[in-house]
Amino acid sequence: MRNQAARTTFVGSFPDVLPQLGLPEVAFAGRSNVGKSSCLNKLLNRKGAARVSSRPGRTQAINLFRIGESGVFADLPGYGYAKVPAHVQDAWKGMIEGYLSSREALRLVVILVDARREPQEMDGMLLYALVESGIPGLVVATKVDKLKRNERARRLAALRREFRLPAEQPLPFSSVTGEGRDALWSRIERACARQR
Ligand code: GTP
Ligand code: MG
Repeated sequence: MRNQAARTTFVGSFPDVLPQLGLPEVAFAGRSNVGKSSCLNKLLNRKGAARVSSRPGRTQAINLFRIGESGVFADLPGYGYAKVPAHVQDAWKGMIEGYLSSREALRLVVILVDARREPQEMDGMLLYALVESGIPGLVVATKVDKLKRNERARRLAALRREFRLPAEQPLPFSSVTGEGRDALWSRIERACARQR
């Protein structure tokens, strides 16, 4: 899959009904501004594959990217941003729940959390929804380049405790330095190789 990253194409932006592409799918979720689009761009080695925005919480659609003939990345709309009104949050929940319960090709949900911030309620809810539906999840801690070494170890340990994660999570990631890129690709490829 990774060797086809240069052949990535944008499939489209879908507010409700998603096309069936017949390829293993990996979804990326996380609160607005967590660095989701930057992470996707870093993985795909492209500047503008996924749009990096400064005005969060607008897109309430799922963006699909096809990685050559090998897989699909789904960029899920960001959540939990304070400026988003309640009815938008409810719409978000409905969309994500619908997606998780019906997307047969889904192999892994990558949940991005900002390494510097307190975990969001929605992060926990999403993790719980994954456990309930038997879909593998992987927590990635973004923007680790902004933390000093001590602080970083402390923050990663706090996230591991908070979400009761196994020892190898959260995976530290930075789209500025490229840290975590190889490790994330390995996890993605491993998850996509498995049958559900
Ligand atoms: P929405 O789509 O609006 O929900 O945001 P997003 O989660 O896609 O975040 P995006 O990639 O647009 O990044 C948000 C801001 O954080 C931008 O200003 C990025 O440049 C910055 N950013 C993202 N990742 C990193 C990182 O690893 N390190 C640093 N220092 N900044 C980052
Ligand atoms: Mg984005």
